[in-house]
Amino acid sequence: MKLNIAVLPGDGIGPEIVAQALEVTKAVCKKFNHELTYKEAWVGAVAIDKTGNPYPPETHELCMASDAVLFGAIGDPKYDNDPSAKVRPEQGLLKMRKDLGLYANLRPISTFPSLIHKSPLRADLVENADFMCLRELTGGLYFGRPQGRSEDGNTAYDTCVYTREEVERIVRLAYKLAEQRRKKVTVVDKANVLCTSRLWRQVAQEIEKEFPHIETEYMFVDNVAMQIIQWPKRFDVLVTENLFGDILTDEASVITGSLGMLPSASIGVHTSVFEPIHGSYPQAAGKNIANPLATILSVALMFEYAFDLKEEGALIRKAVDASMDAQVVTEDIASGEKAYSTSEVGKWIVDFIENT
Ligand code: IPM
Ligand code: MN
Repeated sequence: MKLNIAVLPGDGIGPEIVAQALEVTKAVCKKFNHELTYKEAWVGAVAIDKTGNPYPPETHELCMASDAVLFGAIGDPKYDNDPSAKVRPEQGLLKMRKDLGLYANLRPISTFPSLIHKSPLRADLVENADFMCLRELTGGLYFGRPQGRSEDGNTAYDTCVYTREEVERIVRLAYKLAEQRRKKVTVVDKANVLCTSRLWRQVAQEIEKEFPHIETEYMFVDNVAMQIIQWPKRFDVLVTENLFGDILTDEASVITGSLGMLPSASIGVHTSVFEPIHGSYPQAAGKNIANPLATILSVALMFEYAFDLKEEGALIRKAVDASMDAQVVTEDIASGEKAYSTSEVGKWIVDFIENT
């Protein structure tokens, strides 16, 4: 098969983790005789530095012309404490999501036996927890207008907007995913307070009828935040709006033991994007210490979701499991004395793929 990929390393640790993920992609393509072509482009702070635009038109064109996008991370502390910055790296990520029509962000949460002890939660609570957070990605507070400040600067506002169509397509996808899993959907909202949440719930109640063989539960987001910690195994597919999904998935990452483990797939109208859920971790940039596993697992999702190549995805997961069993891991998840570097972990996984 021909695989034509756009590679967007971004900022901070992005280039280091993407470099390893790309090596893994190459190794898998070689093993299964796929023809890989790829091209890199700028996004985020690096794109602002080079072009003034966090998601330049050339980057968008490359994404549109590719079969999949492998994305690192964006963000740079030099913008974080400057509320007056006119253009921010994060706008690049948001524009990419919007322009590619990536309305669905799949964030699978599962545990790794060798990492259970790293979770701040009790082992019996997290062992075998396995759920899918489906986050709406192109609506809600992130994109609603108006957004801004009053003239005197003392009042600020964001707007949460959802249309029926936006809710329908993501909720329907949640049911489709649940059909392949344990057949339960949890619709997460704040319908006791928010108008948009009441629309979500109404639309979900209609779609629920199309899937009588799937169990549906409706829960308020604050309650879900608690239950993710208290009894994560009760969840199968969670579907929610943009900001709730952002917050809940960072929270859920502690179940796996490290934010550095969680991959994601963003799918929708145009080319799908595969990226770790963690950020650019600027403190670690250039030190070769960041955990590349979330990005490598995103490559597994890329094979599975963008190319329907299940065996290839499975081999990557197997290699990642093996690296953890062998304790060839970065410092965030190392338990012994020795922590390996980003590139050592990547190299070990590539060797495993080549020799399996
Ligand atoms: C994520 C990130 C982004 C988001 C930021 C960097 C804009 O936190 O992908 O979860 O809030 O969506
Ligand atoms: Mn986030």
